[in-house]
Amino acid sequence: MEITNTILSAIIVSPGIKKFMIYQPDISRTRKPGQFVMVRLNDQGERVPLTIVDSDAVKETITIIVQEACKSTRMMNQLNEGDVIQDIAGPLGTPSEIRKYGAVLIIGGGVGTAVAYPVAKAMQEAGNTVSAILGARNEQALILTTELQETCSEVYISTDDGSAGFHGNTAQLLKNLLGEGHHYDLIFASGPLLMMKSISDLTSPLNIPTRVSLNTLMVDGTGMCGGCRVTIGDKSLFTCVDGPEFDSHLVDFDTLIKRNHTYDHIEITSNAPVRSVKKVVTASPNTIRQKMPAQEPKVRILNFDEVNLGYSKETARLEAARCLQCKKPACVDGCPVGVQIPKFIQKLSEGDYLAAAAIYKHDNALAAVCARVCPQADQCEGQCVLTRKGEAVAIGNLARFVLDYAHDHENQVRPVKGADTGQQVAIIGSGPAGLTCAKDLAMFGHQVTVFEALHELGCVLTYGIPEFRLPKRIVHEETEALEELGVIFKKNVLIGNTITIDDLFTRGFKAVFISVGAGLPYFMIIAGENLVGVYSANEFLIRVNMMKANLFPAYDTPILNLQSKRVAVIGGGNTALDSARVAMRMGASQVDVLYRRTEADMPARIEEYAHAREEGIQFHFLCAPREFMGNSEGQLTGARVQRMKQGEADVSGRRSPLPIEGSDYLIEIQAAIIAIGNGSNPIIQKTTPDLKFNQWGNILVDEESTATNRMGIFSGGDIVTGGATVISAMGAGRKAARAIDQYLRNR
Ligand code: FES
Repeated sequence: MEITNTILSAIIVSPGIKKFMIYQPDISRTRKPGQFVMVRLNDQGERVPLTIVDSDAVKETITIIVQEACKSTRMMNQLNEGDVIQDIAGPLGTPSEIRKYGAVLIIGGGVGTAVAYPVAKAMQEAGNTVSAILGARNEQALILTTELQETCSEVYISTDDGSAGFHGNTAQLLKNLLGEGHHYDLIFASGPLLMMKSISDLTSPLNIPTRVSLNTLMVDGTGMCGGCRVTIGDKSLFTCVDGPEFDSHLVDFDTLIKRNHTYDHIEITSNAPVRSVKKVVTASPNTIRQKMPAQEPKVRILNFDEVNLGYSKETARLEAARCLQCKKPACVDGCPVGVQIPKFIQKLSEGDYLAAAAIYKHDNALAAVCARVCPQADQCEGQCVLTRKGEAVAIGNLARFVLDYAHDHENQVRPVKGADTGQQVAIIGSGPAGLTCAKDLAMFGHQVTVFEALHELGCVLTYGIPEFRLPKRIVHEETEALEELGVIFKKNVLIGNTITIDDLFTRGFKAVFISVGAGLPYFMIIAGENLVGVYSANEFLIRVNMMKANLFPAYDTPILNLQSKRVAVIGGGNTALDSARVAMRMGASQVDVLYRRTEADMPARIEEYAHAREEGIQFHFLCAPREFMGNSEGQLTGARVQRMKQGEADVSGRRSPLPIEGSDYLIEIQAAIIAIGNGSNPIIQKTTPDLKFNQWGNILVDEESTATNRMGIFSGGDIVTGGATVISAMGAGRKAARAIDQYLRNR
């Protein structure tokens, strides 16, 4: 039996263009015309979008055509029969709308014909009269001519050099055909952006419905980064989710063409910050709350190593001695997963660090993660009785100490899988809610499979939180521990597209937990938001944290070189601060955080805010950009910022920011990172009939049981609550695990 992603055949179809048939059972079954896959060749590789030309559900294969256009596609075309591609995720994108239109003209330019061919085939099967124009720079570069001739009633050829067919481009040929009186009810075009723009300019005044398949810059391809956004009419839409096919007459081609040139001139020199700089410890033990030792600010902004260095044994025990061991510990109530805090601190005080770690881990599936990223000041530490007179016990720092100790010592206590119940549960999403639920269900004895859309596990823990706050080895260790518990992980599976939730039940899963998070980045919907240099925080952080763009060109994914640039970050949460601190480490000369509320309203962790200030990041409160400005190349040059004042309290309990008319001022910036929150990805909603959602796309659940309106489907985390914290998502994962266990035992 073949291994998934094995290349079964690799044929050169034209100089620099190769056709691959690949063994891919899941994608072959669900792929539809117009959809694409994201391919990644190695650990350093980019995620590259490639169109699926054909598929065969019986042979379980997909066919893709690849033109050498960048390092990744050149490497791809060196692969041959028998080679296995590391990651293929898909099918992605909304399928073409195939129905009976009448006379349909399909136009394929260059390798864009690979997109056009399956649409032509499907249109013909739907009863349309299909004709085609195939264009290329010369005869040799024409592809899929025979296939289209077999499918279409007429095929017209155009070549730039006149070596075959019409001497000229596809738009000129179309103009001639229309001039000769040919009538089309629909035109579909795919190829270079300039070609599609010319065709659209031609058909718009004639009111000929025209659809184009856009090729934009993409990072994840699943709706998480917003890097693929394109202006369609008065909306900014994501090509990978809302497209890639759009009404060409609504596409802002000029902005898109400029955005697609973002990385054309990127310097092929690494802009990696200086690493391996000697760290200076600034611990200063005192008799009150023990300070967390950390790298010096001037040193740490030159590297991505963890900022906090951890307590020593002595400091940890001094701090643990501050715990009053309350009979009714409020700190436990403040912990969404109910860690027995006084008990683990007691064991720490006694010097039994492994026992302390075991107590902590019993209730926390991602213990070492939480010790680093939980907003303890608002949760367990916020409830500590010592806050009445002074500072809370440093619960997070103590947890980190015992967990790191356990990590460094061999005989760690590992959770044990429960007696096998023979019941299979599918978990969708490998973020904090999904991993927590997976651990508890495995301990209850169920067989758990976690499906992840990306090539890495951990979701926000991996792509969102930077290495200097949460080293990725910790996330890897947590997922490895789950594998030891018998949890199966399946990466590159986008539930909804690759397999639907209903398919999961058909495949034998008895319950499903949806924990896909809130990954769709919000934008401000202001002028200039699609300029080159404007990033969503998701895109910026995915490029650096997951794709290692800070190590470009050793890694293939690029990012704008921020050396000596001024960067504005919009937002006041942890993601905004993470973005600002990453920008600083990427060499920005100045990083300004613009937040529309007050300092007291900032949702970011107190420690992160303090660290950001120490690192030289400037904060500006009660202000927000109203417009981004750019130069003739479409590159960001500045922003018009408006001051705010505080109004009445809003639903969040905080006073709402109100714009002050006439208070606008201009700032000069070369990059902006928008970190104003995330919404729900629509894929599950589109592909799961009858599942109930609210108006914002959040899944509706019973609060007690996390059960949705559909039998056997449960949900929790940000997809239910909207963007929240890691620990609250974990709390939902625990609750769901208990409910699923009960559901399975009572069936
Ligand atoms: Fe479309 Fe990231 S590539 S949202």
